[in-house]
Amino acid sequence: TPIAVLISGTGSNLAALLGAAQEPSCPFAVVGVIADREASGLDHAHAAGIPTEVVRLGDHPDRPAWDRALTAAVSRLDPELVVLAGFMKLVGPPLLAAFGGRIVNTHPALLPAFPGAHGVRDALAHGVKITGASVIEVDAGVDTGRILAQVAVDVLDSDTEDTLHERIKAAEQPLLVDVVRRLTAAG
Ligand code: GRF
Repeated sequence: TPIAVLISGTGSNLAALLGAAQEPSCPFAVVGVIADREASGLDHAHAAGIPTEVVRLGDHPDRPAWDRALTAAVSRLDPELVVLAGFMKLVGPPLLAAFGGRIVNTHPALLPAFPGAHGVRDALAHGVKITGASVIEVDAGVDTGRILAQVAVDVLDSDTEDTLHERIKAAEQPLLVDVVRRLTAAG
């Protein structure tokens, strides 16, 4: 089952998906990776020989034009499932119209707590003792879609945003791989 992966960052979740896809029994194949910037995570795709494309907001006259360009880039890959793996932009109506119900996102907090761009920092600032990661179905809201899976991670007294995020990412990667496996095996 073909999947497209959208990233903005280091691509550790992408790397986990690519690793899983190498197993012969894996139900999905990563057919392309799209970023909204020169994300270092694109190197994982290059190393695996997977096509990449960068669709920058700044190269387009306005947000709707960027949304259309992003949707066109994803559509060219013709994926069954679109995986946002550390993609730090909200997807707009064109992508939702084309792939509604077939877009998943991973978020580094236990939603509905701490949505938005700083889920780790916000959880730490609030003083929660347990946080985690959530994989959700993407809808028009900010991290409001149906929750597909979650994993809990303890917050340590010594944690900084970085140390906590690293432990969340270690738990988040297998969670995301599991959900993508489940969704692509069923479809
Ligand atoms: C992940 O924790 C994701 O949930 C968050 O940013 C991180 C991206 O990490 N929004 P990576 O680019 O997959 O390494």
